[in-house]
Amino acid sequence: MANEITHGDAGVPRRDFLLLAAGALGAVGVVSTIWPFIDSLEPAADTIAAGAPIDVDLAPVKPGQQITVVWRGRPIFILRRTPDELKELQSPSDTTLLRDPNSEVDQQPEYAQNWHRSINPEFLVVVGICTHLGCIPMFEPRGSALMDASWPGGYFCPCHGSKYDLSARVFAGVPAPYNLPVPPYNFTAKDRITIGENPKGSDWDFSSVEQI
Ligand code: FES
Repeated sequence: MANEITHGDAGVPRRDFLLLAAGALGAVGVVSTIWPFIDSLEPAADTIAAGAPIDVDLAPVKPGQQITVVWRGRPIFILRRTPDELKELQSPSDTTLLRDPNSEVDQQPEYAQNWHRSINPEFLVVVGICTHLGCIPMFEPRGSALMDASWPGGYFCPCHGSKYDLSARVFAGVPAPYNLPVPPYNFTAKDRITIGENPKGSDWDFSSVEQI
C-alpha cells in the first residue's frame, strides 16, 4: 500500500517522508489552526491513537477558516468554505486547472465523490498529506502573499510545488498524482462530525483509497 510506494527524487522511500511529515505537524499551526476541541473524552488518548473515531465540533469554525485535527496519527484538514468559494469550485476557471476534477480516482468514499468532495458542501474533510511524497500541504486562501495573483485558493505543498484547490483536488502538471484522500466520517448533528465512521448505509473501507 502507500508505505511501499516510492517516487522520483532519488527514490527516497515514501515512508521516510511520512515520518518527516509527522515531525512537521508541530509547524502546521503556522498556517492553520490545530483544533483543541476534539470532543472525545472517551476513549482514552492511546485508544484514539490506535484508530478510534474522534468527534469534532464544527460550530466554532468560521467561514473561510481551516482547522487541523489528528486521526490515526494523520493530520485531518477541515475547511469551512464560503459561498463564493463553493461557486468558484464549480467554475471552469478552477476545474480546468485540475488533473481529476470529477474525483474519478478512488481517493474518497462514494458519499464524497462529487465536486465538493464532501457530505455537506460547506465543510471539506481531507487527510492533509501530499500524495506526492507525504509532506503536509499548507492552506493558502485566495490573496495569500505566498501565491501569485491568479491563485484561486487551496493547498500548496512547498516540498516540490504541488497545488490543490479548495476541494483538495490536485492541479494538473504538478508532482502529486492524486487528490488528497477523504477519510470516513459522518455528521452526527448539524455541525458535529465523527471522523473514522461512515454514515449509516455505507461500508466504505479507508484502506481502499488509491494512495494516502
Ligand atoms: S511531497 Fe512533493 S509536492 Fe508535496
